[in-house]
Amino acid sequence: MTSLKNVLLAFCITWVITPALAQQKPSASVDQKIEALISQMTIEEKAGQLNIVVGETINTGPTMHTAESKKFDEQIRAGKLTGLFNVYGAAYTKRLQKIAVEESRLHIPLLFGADIIHGFKTVTPIPLGEAASWDLDLIRRSAQMAAREATSAGINLNFAPMMDISRDPRWGRISEGAGEDTYLGSRIAEARVKGFQGDKLSDPATMAACLKHFAAYGAAEAGRDYNTADISERVLQEIYLPPFKAAIDAGAATVMPSFNELDGVPATANRHLLQDILRKQWNFNGAVISDYGAVGEMINHGSSADGSKAVIHSLEAGTDMDMMSYLYISKIPELVKAGSLDVKYVDAAVRRILKLKFDLGLFDNAYLYSDEVREKKEVRSKENIALAREVARKSMVLLKNDNGLLPLRSSYKKIAVIGPLADNKEDMNGSWSFFGEATHPVSVLQGIKARVPASTEVVYHPGCNLFDNSRDKMTEAMTTAQGADLTLLVVGESAVMNGEAASRADIGLPGVQEDLVKMISKSGKPVVVVLLNGRPLTMEWLDQNVPAILETWTLGSEAGNAVADVLFGDYNPSGKLPVTFPRHVGQIPIYYNHKNTGRPYSGTNNEPASDRVYVSKYRDIKNTPLYPFGYGLSYTTFTYSEVTLNKATMKNGEQIEATVTVTNNGNYDGEEVVQLYLHDLVGSVTRPVKELKGFQKVMIRKGEAKKITFTITDKELTFLRGDMTWGTEPGMFEVLVGTNSDAVKKKSFELVK
Ligand code: GLC
Repeated sequence: MTSLKNVLLAFCITWVITPALAQQKPSASVDQKIEALISQMTIEEKAGQLNIVVGETINTGPTMHTAESKKFDEQIRAGKLTGLFNVYGAAYTKRLQKIAVEESRLHIPLLFGADIIHGFKTVTPIPLGEAASWDLDLIRRSAQMAAREATSAGINLNFAPMMDISRDPRWGRISEGAGEDTYLGSRIAEARVKGFQGDKLSDPATMAACLKHFAAYGAAEAGRDYNTADISERVLQEIYLPPFKAAIDAGAATVMPSFNELDGVPATANRHLLQDILRKQWNFNGAVISDYGAVGEMINHGSSADGSKAVIHSLEAGTDMDMMSYLYISKIPELVKAGSLDVKYVDAAVRRILKLKFDLGLFDNAYLYSDEVREKKEVRSKENIALAREVARKSMVLLKNDNGLLPLRSSYKKIAVIGPLADNKEDMNGSWSFFGEATHPVSVLQGIKARVPASTEVVYHPGCNLFDNSRDKMTEAMTTAQGADLTLLVVGESAVMNGEAASRADIGLPGVQEDLVKMISKSGKPVVVVLLNGRPLTMEWLDQNVPAILETWTLGSEAGNAVADVLFGDYNPSGKLPVTFPRHVGQIPIYYNHKNTGRPYSGTNNEPASDRVYVSKYRDIKNTPLYPFGYGLSYTTFTYSEVTLNKATMKNGEQIEATVTVTNNGNYDGEEVVQLYLHDLVGSVTRPVKELKGFQKVMIRKGEAKKITFTITDKELTFLRGDMTWGTEPGMFEVLVGTNSDAVKKKSFELVK
């Protein structure tokens, strides 16, 4: 029997709990609900919707909490927080959400953001490593798994994918993106957005993506993080922006401006980026979230005289949410009341953030993402671990394998595993893995021990340290190597040597690791180097003296198992470099899609002596990279036929088909990434010597031949012409197809009017 008292109580609760929403008819559109909410908000509450702060345990930036700002419960109750980031856990996020929805005046639910850069608790390879798989569906599935895990722990906004093109391996954050190429980077950005967001943002297993860092952050001068990016509008438009455009076309929900200035204006307040391009040209209507403290850093940049000016400049340019500068929350009310800031900018920002929360389904069910039952089932599930191992296997790149030393034979009686990263679990998580546990990963040593035949003994020695130049363990390591049939040398960078604020001027093996390799190479026994790194390394001595080298990046939770899978031939390596490896740091920036210049130098030293002087080259080293973009070996061998074209000319609106036959004439089934490049020989502006325009990753069984066809249309021929319009120009083109950007078969055609 429902007593009058209960009815009255139910009415009061409804009236108290959802005054803002109670006045809207259920049939009101989202936009109407948003306007109704905004009409009831004080300026303080509006400022609160533009303020997101970091939790207390994972700090990803310089500004720390004040005693006041870390009183999250109070801040939420007072409507001063739109969300928190880098906090997680279904129970914890549910508790905070409950305060927002039940105890604040307007009951607006919270966002819970995080940097799920390559996996949540099940850690996958660093993004640069995953990019080396060139397997777009795998990359999408990897992001999808990360979303399933993170959302079960309350996360609904992911500050990823990072899609900064980088041509400078001194820059530590090259580890976080998809490498140097715009086409590959664009395809991978799309895959990651689809993985994180799925088809519906309100699906509890998907989370909003945040495209970062907008833009040209990877063009930091001298590879020094946060440094000035000074590039032409043409290079911005052709190289750095397309991955963002592709990701926005894939439906990305939010964007994060970068720390750097561009053309003299920090991205956080750069109207050209945030208004001309993002809002007007691309018609992006999602929320723009500042990077950590970036609004306040406008003062350091010298583009804003003080905090108030920084707020005005950022908000008017289009940065909607302030991450950790506390300036929006502290300055907006007084600036609007003083008439220094038009409230329309505040309302526009609030509108976009409320829209994000509606799209995430938070107004229908604020607890959608804090699901303890799902969390227990999802996090580090067997399926997720198995997928992490698959991604890790497919991310590795075989750089060298003289005389088929790999895969390892089961006849080895004793294998030495030597190196400072061999018996290391924590660093396998790589940079940007704040949620991965240090104890979770399988070390390389563990993986080898678990995989060797019972008849094989495994011995271990650290060899040297990562962070000092002590050589006192090397002699003992040498003895270990001499007593074994083969040595696996596990060397490279620790996770803190790449990633944010981890630029390196010398990109060789850190410490005395190269000396260790040189010593062990004299052991008289075969040596295989297993590389763990987050950037290209200068390693010419290794390339010239070590018979087998496997690039493993940092592979995450299943590192050791995946490395063993490849070393013992359970998986035939199929990765291709998404970034050029220089011979020497002095070559940087070095990338495959460079211009020809007026005095090109083939690097072969075959030119007549007279031609070798006045050409674009170094006196002391070769021009060529150590390993080119797209490079990677297999345990088998693939041979390519000549390229055939179904016609020699095409007109705009037509298409040409380029076909090669790839034959696996080795002893292993293997996957090959067949790459299509185009070279536009003459243009109203100079054109790169080649540009990646397509690729197909195919399994070719041993002894099998596969016909691979690429279709070339106007789209592949389009570029930013001399008049800054996108389009094609008639003339000769070369089609280049091959196993990497250097080893290609060529055929020409003409685009005719
Ligand atoms: C960091 C990074 C950014 C990250 C943010 C929040 O400084 O630049 O990529 O999403 O802060 O952790």
